[in-house]
Amino acid sequence: IPVDPFDLVLFGATGDLARRKILPGLYRRFHDGQMPEEARIIGAARSDLNDESFRALVAEAIAEFVGGKRSDPKIIEAFLQRLSYVPVDARGTDGWQQLAEKMEPGRIRAFYLSVAPALFGDLAERLHQHGIADATSRIVLEKPFGRDLASARALNATLAAHFHESQIYRIDHYLGKETVQNLMAVRFANILFEPLWNSQYVDHVQITVAETVGVGGRGSYYDKSGAMRDMVQNHLMQLLCLIAMEPPYHFDPDAVRDEKLKVIRALDPIGPDDLVRGQYRAHQGEPGYLEDAENPASRTESYIALRVHVANWRWKGTPFYLRTGKRLRARASEIAITFKEPPHSIFDEAGGDWRENQLVIRLQPNEGMNLKVMIKEPGPGGMRLVQVPLDMSFAEALGENGADIPDAYERLIMDVIRGNQTLFMRGDEVEAAWAWTDPIIAGWEARGDRPQGYDPGSSGPEDALMLLHRDSRRWREIKE
Ligand code: BG6
Repeated sequence: IPVDPFDLVLFGATGDLARRKILPGLYRRFHDGQMPEEARIIGAARSDLNDESFRALVAEAIAEFVGGKRSDPKIIEAFLQRLSYVPVDARGTDGWQQLAEKMEPGRIRAFYLSVAPALFGDLAERLHQHGIADATSRIVLEKPFGRDLASARALNATLAAHFHESQIYRIDHYLGKETVQNLMAVRFANILFEPLWNSQYVDHVQITVAETVGVGGRGSYYDKSGAMRDMVQNHLMQLLCLIAMEPPYHFDPDAVRDEKLKVIRALDPIGPDDLVRGQYRAHQGEPGYLEDAENPASRTESYIALRVHVANWRWKGTPFYLRTGKRLRARASEIAITFKEPPHSIFDEAGGDWRENQLVIRLQPNEGMNLKVMIKEPGPGGMRLVQVPLDMSFAEALGENGADIPDAYERLIMDVIRGNQTLFMRGDEVEAAWAWTDPIIAGWEARGDRPQGYDPGSSGPEDALMLLHRDSRRWREIKE
């Protein structure tokens, strides 16, 4: 179903994210018929381009990042005709008048700020000064949303001076991933899991976001962030919220975000024994983190593992283990819920190998679900137990629809136009996440901790294994 007519102004239109994700994503939606005739996309940035050179740049991005069944040149050309470009000086006066003249009355206006957060305030102010944004316009912001509680609060205050919270769309692209949204469907559209979804039946939860890439090329940003700020405060926190939250009364923006906020506020503080930080080493001629980050003295972590407790009735006593890192053995993101033993075994005399039930939700790649159950091993030899997987790949189960999973950004941009904030972070959520994160970072800085080295292609630092061993548990293997 096409969305309503809109003017989307993309600030930072010549940047990397715009080229790799936002513009190709918009094209895919256009191709699939979701953009009405009147929709216009206006690129804005400092570079001195014009409509024609901007279109050429977008055509290249489409060729590089889309392809497949969506490469019909006629459709691409029709999309390019929707694009125009205005050179704009975020901190000066150039270009603003011209931009104002481009806006058509009576359409939805969305301003996507794919720029450094330092410019958020300037852009928000100028949009108002020049009468470009009004009370119904939407503003879209990319992470990082602050680097601590104080800076996040300052950003929120700056935005609040010009936009109402219902107009602000803070992107966490993990929420746009189909499988992440599926967490809610699995939990709340089935009766099977929810009765067991608490500390009485769940032994522990593992959340893993493993990457094979290093930080080469973006070291100057990454070295000031590290895995905690870059991944845990936002993406892993969101996954934790969706797994741990109470059922919202409705799939509605504030109902969902209220429940997520309660989870973040219920998180226990983290002590030094609850976390392990790592940094990848140079290995077989490949650069290590220090070289990639161009900072030989860096103590920034490229890996982190945490033991987290959600201190509420539902989860008291069930640890959530979180880990994420760069240059690990595989690109694999998943959530694994390990259930407890049955209260009493009637198979004491039986042989075989009893194991816990486990539900694994694979977020990427090979999106799917795997439920491990115990059955009787076939054969005449008596009651021997064996664990088997009920394994489902979304691509196979859903056929063609499952194979063509839209990119997170496509979904999110269309939600902006529809005015649906469910998959965007509210200001108080972001602040609560920083309020939990800040003392953890302050703790290791005060202690002068150094991250432990790990080999690229491994599962992370040794101490991370110990974090679970101490609790008599094991990490799942990281594999695609
Ligand atoms: C970004 C982080 O937000 O997410 C990157 O800044 C990380 O460091 C990326 O690589 C991971 O996203 P995805 O969609 O590839 O899992």
